[in-house]
Amino acid sequence: MKILVTGGLGFIGSHTVVELQNKGFEVLIVDNLSNADEKVLEGITAITGKTPIFEKFDLREKAKVQDFFGRHSDLTGVIHFAASKAVGESVEKPLLYYENNLGVLTYILQELIKKDEAHFIFSSSCTVYGQADNMPITEDAPVKPAESPYGNTKQVGEEIICDTCKVNSNLAAISLRYFNPIGAHPSTAIGELPIGVPQNLVPFITQTGIGMREQLSVFGDDYPTPDGTCVRDYIHVVDLAKAHVKALQRLIQNENQSNYEVFNLGTGTGSSVFEVIQSFERVSGKKLNYKIVDRRLGDVTEAYADTTKANTILGWKANSTLDDAMKSAWDWEQKIRKPRS
Ligand SMILES: NC(=O)c1ccc[n+]([C@@H]2O[C@H](COP(=O)([O-])OP(=O)(O)OC[C@H]3O[C@@H](n4cnc5c(N)ncnc54)[C@H](O)[C@@H]3O)[C@@H](O)[C@H]2O)c1
Repeated sequence: MKILVTGGLGFIGSHTVVELQNKGFEVLIVDNLSNADEKVLEGITAITGKTPIFEKFDLREKAKVQDFFGRHSDLTGVIHFAASKAVGESVEKPLLYYENNLGVLTYILQELIKKDEAHFIFSSSCTVYGQADNMPITEDAPVKPAESPYGNTKQVGEEIICDTCKVNSNLAAISLRYFNPIGAHPSTAIGELPIGVPQNLVPFITQTGIGMREQLSVFGDDYPTPDGTCVRDYIHVVDLAKAHVKALQRLIQNENQSNYEVFNLGTGTGSSVFEVIQSFERVSGKKLNYKIVDRRLGDVTEAYADTTKANTILGWKANSTLDDAMKSAWDWEQKIRKPRS
């Protein structure tokens, strides 16, 4: 079965391509390399022994999207990762985010609804919950007003898909709300490649650990949490990738209860910034240089998932611990910074 993976050379997409290929799916990747390197294809091939088909183009070009679907009329499903994801940049360039994250989504859905049967998986985010009133967060927790244009694209993206499914029974879709994906493939053949200063905690920690950055800033230690730092649910990217295969199989096998469903993807455990630092120090044997600075605007105090729905209905569970994920992130950092001989 042929699956289109948009953004398949990116962080989560590349790990998902590996899991899809491991399960026998034929993968076509579309990526414009705006936040990825074509060499990721070699990493995927090294792990799976198979090179996915890759087409480089920008999905904002509607005619190219139409042409692609015309040439690949035998697609079984689409997993849609391609998006812009920097929260700060989205505040500066809202139209770029609305065009890339929502315009492209509508182009793909317009093609999918022409098919007799179509399966679609969407990368959503726990940002849709904002600061949820209760922990852990279940899927029926209210969606809170978005803090940024990026967050808004995930909320509106979900609404676009839900509305489209209501009037197109041939389309079945699942939105997956990721908590905090971290880590790398245990082979160290693929991993996260942040461009510029990392926006996320773990790549910042590993880059500090390796000496690329002088010091980690911990944004606030006066939150109402056990140690005063923010709490998040860090999930190993390989576990996350496997959930996409489960979700796709659910749709293909018609096991879904309605033609639009939503699942949280997390571990169910919250870890504070200090606990993440301690995890790094345990797996690397290094002391991390950090300092406490003021709180950062827009950071919620805590967010961790209730994973009951994914565990029981999707039949998926995250298996890796924070230390497992951190070790893979550290192994990856050491590999990519090693001077090439
Ligand atoms: N990483 C996270 O922390 C996180 C959390 C929640 C949700 N998400 C969502 O998951 C998805 C994947 O995230 P990621 O971390 O793998 O990001 P990423 O930037 O590593 O991957 C996205 C890929 O899409 C490609 N792309 C972007 N715009 C494109 C376009 N117009 N045409 C073709 N290709 C395009 C990029 O080159 C990149 O390879 C995104 O939708 C993101 O918003 C990520």
